[in-house]
This record gives sequence, structure tokens and C-alpha cells, in this order.
Amino acid sequence: MGEDRSVERTLKLSPSILTADFGRLADEVATVAPYVDWFHLDVMDGHYVPNITFGASTVAAVRAACDLPLHVHLMISEPQRYIESFAEAGATRISFHPETVEDATAVIEQIAALGLGPGIAVHPDVGLEVLEGHLGRLEVVLMMTVRPGFGGQSFLPEVVPKIASATATVQAAGSRADIEVDGGVNLATIDEAVKAGGQILVAGSAIFDGVDAAAAARRLRERVDALASGVPA
Ligand code: DX5
Ligand code: ZN
Repeated sequence: MGEDRSVERTLKLSPSILTADFGRLADEVATVAPYVDWFHLDVMDGHYVPNITFGASTVAAVRAACDLPLHVHLMISEPQRYIESFAEAGATRISFHPETVEDATAVIEQIAALGLGPGIAVHPDVGLEVLEGHLGRLEVVLMMTVRPGFGGQSFLPEVVPKIASATATVQAAGSRADIEVDGGVNLATIDEAVKAGGQILVAGSAIFDGVDAAAAARRLRERVDALASGVPA
């Protein structure tokens, strides 16, 4: 069974279900839930990114399968049209890519007005200036270390300095936003993601692409907890 959940974990692990077995999604979620803190749900529309994944009904299915908070990562055009449906499906936080909207402030306020945590997702090719003016309202800054669209890609090390800059910017602004690192995170890359300031680590294929998702989640949990306690690499 999972470990003691009463102790507040300073670093958090958030599996992306993108490469989970969708024929057994509820089981996959329940299997890894004891070892993780969030679930990360990648919504793609085949327009902003060249892939189509799932919608609010899948978010509702994950909501029914566990009691952990859900971070919906919208890689879609016109996200403002769908915020309410993801809120109704049980999202806890919703992040969007600011280049997909006319007015990022309005979308942030729309998410917050529904009682959810707003986040901005930063594409590897997009600068941190997209955060300007929003840090007082954001609950999460989602730093992408792969190009959005697919699981199983390699971690982009050139994004690490940008994660460190985002961490410094959030701290200087006195923002409560978590720094979340998303893409290609595994046992070989998680240390540098955390050292740069990553607080919530998203892992998809590192957990679901093997033969034993629970064992993979447990190994990442052990590494994250070791990093949180200051154990050197
Ligand atoms: C990519 C998604 C990521 C990705 C993570 O567009 O935003 O969440 O699915 O999966 P891995 O960990 O396999 O890169
Ligand atoms: Zn994502």
C-alpha cells in the first residue's frame, strides 16, 4: 500500500495520464495514486497541437477514480470556451497557453471565478514575459520541457535556465504560484528539474510506459522525497 500521506510533501509528483492505458484508466489511476500528489490531464484539440486526446468526460472519469487534485493542461485554441465544462468535470487547477487567447487576464479571472487555480503554461519557445502582470493571480506556472503535443519526448535541457528564471521571478513577485515542470521528466532528469526550482514534477511515460506503473511511481516518489530532504544527487 502507499505510504503515510499525513506528512505534507514539499515536492509533488503529478502523473500525466496521456500514455496511460485508456482501456483501464480507472485502474491505472488507482494503482499509482498512493505514490503521487496530483494528476495531470493533457487536453489537446488537434489545432493548437497536432494531436487530439480527450475532453471533460475523461476528466470526470479520473475525478471519480481518485480523490487527488487534478491539473487540467489545456493545449487547445479558444480555451475560454471550455473552462466551465472542465470545472464541472472536477478540475482543481486549469492551465492554458497565453498565445491561444486574446486576453489572458480574462481567462485567468474566469478560472479563478469558478473557484479553480489558474495557471499559465509556458511553451519552450515562449518567453517568460507572458507571466508579466499575472503572478499575483496564478496558482501555477507550468514550464514545458518538451514541445506540447505528445508524451514520451526527451527532456529539453535548454529550458532548465528558464525554469530557474521563472522560479526567481515568482519569488521576487511574492507570488504563491507553484513551479511545475512538464515533459520528459524521469529518474535521469528529475534532479535538474528540481534544482532549477521545480516543485511539482509531471511524469507521463516514465510512469505509464513500462510494465509496472506502481513500481515506476514509487521509484520517482522515493527520488522526489530524497531531493526534498536534501539528499545530494
Ligand atoms: C505534452 C504534455 C506533457 C506530457 C508529459 O504536451 O503537456 O504533460 O504528456 O509526458 P512525458 O512525461 O511522457 O513527457
Ligand atoms: Zn502537460
